[in-house]
Amino acid sequence: MVQVYRAGFVGGAVEESLEWMSEKAQGAHNICVPFAGIGRATIAMARPDTVIESWDTMHYPGCIYRGVFSASEIDSNVDGIRYTKGWAFENRGYKHLDDRCAGFMDWVAVNGTDFDKACLGSAMIRSTLMGRMMHWHSNVEQLYGRFEKQREYNADWLNQPGRLIHHEANFFEALPLEKDYDLIEIDPPKVVSYSDVYSLHFKVHQQVLTQGKGIALPKWNRRSPVPNMRKLFAGTKAPKIIFMYVSKVYPDYEDMKKLVQQFAEIEEEQEFFHSGRYDYALLLRR
Ligand SMILES: C[S@@+](CC[C@H](N)C(=O)[O-])C[C@H]1O[C@@H](n2cnc3c(N)ncnc32)[C@H](O)[C@@H]1O
Repeated sequence: MVQVYRAGFVGGAVEESLEWMSEKAQGAHNICVPFAGIGRATIAMARPDTVIESWDTMHYPGCIYRGVFSASEIDSNVDGIRYTKGWAFENRGYKHLDDRCAGFMDWVAVNGTDFDKACLGSAMIRSTLMGRMMHWHSNVEQLYGRFEKQREYNADWLNQPGRLIHHEANFFEALPLEKDYDLIEIDPPKVVSYSDVYSLHFKVHQQVLTQGKGIALPKWNRRSPVPNMRKLFAGTKAPKIIFMYVSKVYPDYEDMKKLVQQFAEIEEEQEFFHSGRYDYALLLRR
């Protein structure tokens, strides 16, 4: 059974699809993950003999990969609730964010380790109304309680097997055509109505964790998926591809399937139903 890493993050596959992914990734040693997210797919595929190279523009996944998955022990600077005035205090990116929560987040973002910021990132998401990252919905004791809970949780995810090479960067600026991967796992941002959820809702999260110094999150609108997938397929080499998609997004699954079939053949197709939508998984060969 694969374990699903949980950190209050949106998107990404659920247990059955990760199980399927883990099975299909068997035998692959060099794996490319262009859109890492919080690494659920990476962890499902990681084995002692795998080298998994991944990318994500958000600082939060970087903190999780470095501070949790690749760490051999917990490295933390946080010993209680402390405050400083930084980006969150000055800018108040969330509606109803109070001084103390802002000050605590700034203190951890400035003084915390990657492990601490991985815990803060999760506690922040869970401290917004319904985890939607718009309205703040917490006092500092609740925020700190969630931080501590995630600290305990993350302690069980250290030392992941194999080698993880993670880049806090835009995959389209890398396009590693020279690398001979065995497998590429593609779980792109999905365009819901007119935008992806990451550039829309994680902008403030990114700014707080990096104190305003993070990479601008790439915006995906209705014009992005087709050229981006063309670039991705043309800019990478690997005989096997796992492609994850969902229903109720733009372009729809049938159109996306037609597009990927221009580059590869479908060997297997799966659908998983959960919370009112379908997750689709394709195993492709080229
Ligand atoms: C659907 S999520 C991936 C979830 C992932 N499969 C997991 O297991 O957690 C898509 C991710 O792509 C990232 N992203 C969007 N545009 C990107 C780009 N140009 N380069 C790298 N990452 C990008 C987003 O920040 C987001 O974390």
